[in-house]
Amino acid sequence: MSKYTRRQFIKTSGGVLATIPFVPLTDYSSLKLAPSDTLSIGLIGCKSMGYGLLNHALKIDGVVCGGICDVDYNVMEQKAADIEKKTGRVPALYSDYRELLDNNDLDAVIIATPDHWHCLQTIHSLEAGKHVYVEKPLANTIAESKIIHKASEKSGKVVQVGQQQRSGEHWINVVKIIQSGILGKIRHINLWGNFGYGQGPLRVKDSSVPMGVDYDMWLGPAPERRFNSNHFHGSWRFFWNYGGGLLTDWGTHLLDIPLWAMNIDGPPKAVSSFGGIFSGNDRAIDMADTQTVIYQFDDFNMRWEHNGGVESGPFNHHYGIAFVGNNGTLIVNRQGWEIRPEFTDGSPVIDSIPFQECNRDHHDLHIANFIDGIRKGTEINCPTHSGYLSAFYAHIGNIAYRTNSMLTWNNKSVLNNEGNFSHLITPEYRTPWKLPVL
Ligand SMILES: NC(=O)c1ccc[n+]([C@@H]2O[C@H](COP(=O)([O-])OP(=O)(O)OC[C@H]3O[C@@H](n4cnc5c(N)ncnc54)[C@H](O)[C@@H]3O)[C@@H](O)[C@H]2O)c1
Repeated sequence: MSKYTRRQFIKTSGGVLATIPFVPLTDYSSLKLAPSDTLSIGLIGCKSMGYGLLNHALKIDGVVCGGICDVDYNVMEQKAADIEKKTGRVPALYSDYRELLDNNDLDAVIIATPDHWHCLQTIHSLEAGKHVYVEKPLANTIAESKIIHKASEKSGKVVQVGQQQRSGEHWINVVKIIQSGILGKIRHINLWGNFGYGQGPLRVKDSSVPMGVDYDMWLGPAPERRFNSNHFHGSWRFFWNYGGGLLTDWGTHLLDIPLWAMNIDGPPKAVSSFGGIFSGNDRAIDMADTQTVIYQFDDFNMRWEHNGGVESGPFNHHYGIAFVGNNGTLIVNRQGWEIRPEFTDGSPVIDSIPFQECNRDHHDLHIANFIDGIRKGTEINCPTHSGYLSAFYAHIGNIAYRTNSMLTWNNKSVLNNEGNFSHLITPEYRTPWKLPVL
């Protein structure tokens, strides 16, 4: 088929917009329920994301907050006062999540603690019979992510992973566009995440533990170290013991889209990664502030790249994804998407689609999907299988960087030379915490 004929074919088969089934926005606020449908939620980790998610949940009819837990009493007290002001109800307060889980009135929990806690808290919540919304990345290592996935499958409970783009209508549409074949053969996928905060915080000295903080319970299974505010609220994500830097913070969200669109369900052929602290800034950070990860597949390449401290990037977006096909390139981020066609003899091979603005946060829809999963058995948009896969892709990028090696898998999808990396795949928990065995 000549290029001209292919263009004719695509144009005559209805044009791009006409062939894509668009997903309408669901208005969850219109759902009305009987009072008996009260669903009581507990929150574990209240500061930033957790409180935001809880607020979305509380906007849904019949959802109440039965208890909140945080190891920083200052945070918890403030959030409890806010919840009382908003709802007129005072939630029960817990400094140990295991006591919150003993509360039989709670139906579900939201887990929004630093990543090194996700595994234990999810497993214990499922054991306590709760439905779970757990933030991304599913866990801080591949082994812990796998344990959560297995436990979720066995539990019969609803488990939603906090990759809220999966509930976003423009992301769903973009996946449909890729899968429609309109872009032609996809040969390269470029993902980038350039964020100012990604260079890590300014260095500060170790200090005493702030009043009201149970630091031992903040560390949990992570190695003992003196308190340092850089390793605490928010900036913990720049230290391997608690997080994975920009690659797990933003990478899990962005990598999720090509994994979904390209139906990738296993490891790549190979992954390698290069980078370092190249900004010249003397920040407190374990990771590379400048990093490229190359994922190799049979007939396309995928590349992640981040530049912490930089806020510009390809196509005038400081973060995003570009799917490069023979007929055109689709560029997408949370603000919207566009298609830039290839040209043959001066004519576009497919219709150009100018930037389609979205600019909408999707946490509310993702939480609503979780609640619908519990109440009505609606299919969950980000089950642990999908959460596992994108956490896996983010972690293998970091492992390739940390070990300065190319990771490859044998034809049974088993990592070659796993022995060399096993300490990065399976964490050693600090006593008395024990990695769950399933
Ligand atoms: N989906 C998204 O868009 C999105 C955005 C931001 C963060 N996140 C994820 O949310 C999670 C939390 O991130 P954050 O930015 O809110 O972090 P944060 O540091 O601001 O808040 C974490 C809270 O957890 C508390 N905590 C720590 N250990 C605890 C324990 N054992 N028991 C109870 N509470 C404990 C901390 O005291 C703090 O209040 C992370 O996994 C992060 O990756 C997701």
